[in-house]
Amino acid sequence: MRLRKRKWMDSLLEESAYLLKEDDVEEFLKRTQNLVLEIGSGKGKFLLEMARKNPECEFLGVEIQRSALAISIKTIGEEKRNNLHFICSDIQKLFFKFSDESLNAIYLNFSDPWPKKRQQKRRLTYPSFLKEYYRLLKRGGKLYFKTDNEDLFSDSLHYLKDSSFILESMTMDYNGEDSMDALTDYEIKFRSQEKKITRFVARKGE
Ligand SMILES: C[S@@+](CC[C@H](N)C(=O)[O-])C[C@H]1O[C@@H](n2cnc3c(N)ncnc32)[C@H](O)[C@@H]1O
Repeated sequence: MRLRKRKWMDSLLEESAYLLKEDDVEEFLKRTQNLVLEIGSGKGKFLLEMARKNPECEFLGVEIQRSALAISIKTIGEEKRNNLHFICSDIQKLFFKFSDESLNAIYLNFSDPWPKKRQQKRRLTYPSFLKEYYRLLKRGGKLYFKTDNEDLFSDSLHYLKDSSFILESMTMDYNGEDSMDALTDYEIKFRSQEKKITRFVARKGE
């Protein structure tokens, strides 16, 4: 969903230490260890909670919408989180900047479903994306995917089957019990509507 642009957003983003400037991205990726990536971090609730719970890891949110990022930064407020970072970009434009086997984990939370046939290659679980994730993850690194959308979930399982990933677990009615997880903004809304949430965890072999 497109978020409305507000006047305060640009100055907040410009001044924020959480938002990586385009020129600094490559240097950041080169020097950062124990990196966990969320693609489509939206309003940032998930990543903030993960960064609080796992201070030993560095968390990077890539989000294409500046307005969503501005809300993330507003939500963090005065809290000092040295292990939390954001980039405003389409992930497809960033892949080439990441080294092979540089990520501990990748999270895709309630990704856009792109239901029309001609749009499906934009899905973040589409085979071309899975191929990049496989390259970026360390051996044993994990891809976490959760969604409320049945078609997206079942198609994504098919994409996964044709990839090099190993399916580690799959849940048709996920209740959020994994310690390596946190609630997202969309998830809170869907849970309040008693929608079923599905999830898989896939692994890159050792
Ligand atoms: C449905 S929202 C879910 C947001 C959040 N993960 C949550 O669960 O609350 C999907 C988000 O992914 C972002 N997005 C979609 N495609 C993207 C891409 N190629 N690169 C970066 N962000 C993307 C959208 O702008 C949107 O904020």
